[in-house]
Amino acid sequence: MSKDVRLEDVTAQKWRAVAKLKLADDQKQLLASNVWSIAQSKFDPDANPRAICAGDQVVGFLMYDLPDIGDEVQEASIYRFMIDMAHQGKGYGREALTQAIAEIRDIPGIRKISISYVRNNARAKQFYASFGFVERDSGKDDYELSAELVL
Ligand SMILES: CC(C)(COP(=O)(O)OP(=O)(O)OC[C@H]1O[C@@H](n2cnc3c(N)ncnc32)[C@H](O)[C@@H]1OP(=O)(O)O)[C@@H](O)C(=O)NCCC(=O)NCCS
Repeated sequence: MSKDVRLEDVTAQKWRAVAKLKLADDQKQLLASNVWSIAQSKFDPDANPRAICAGDQVVGFLMYDLPDIGDEVQEASIYRFMIDMAHQGKGYGREALTQAIAEIRDIPGIRKISISYVRNNARAKQFYASFGFVERDSGKDDYELSAELVL
């Protein structure tokens, strides 16, 4: 089933399905809403919003940022990632993140991927660690953590 997973552009045909994806009540504070992210992506040229599709359904959403050409650290940052509550635990998240890493790896010059999550999101922390992401020192930020994967 997870073999069907694809990352696709958030198009005029797909944005409503992305906006309608749901999280459980206790997950809603873990990241900005998809409607917010889609709006943000329209005004932030570095944002790469991706619909996570499985078969003919949109099951999730992720968004990453690419560095500007000439930035000293060629690091991409995945800062939104969710799978609809009805589809969690089916392997879609693992397959989507595998594909996102492969997609970013193919961009010339990118040396690192960082990923951020709220400090109390133990599931995300463990999940990202299983891909080799290593937590960074987040200093005084007691809300959000970030981890990095050297490509
Ligand atoms: C984190 C998230 C994207 C993972 O997506 P998913 O499709 O549910 O994940 P998968 O089914 O591919 O499972 C990935 C891992 O999550 C863990 N997992 C899956 N279901 C779980 C559950 N019900 N409870 C705890 N851990 C679970 C397992 O460790 C699994 O590892 P495995 O592949 O070695 O079995 C998804 O749970 C989600 O959207 N969570 C809410 C938003 C969020 O936390 N986003 C990330 C930070 S911004």
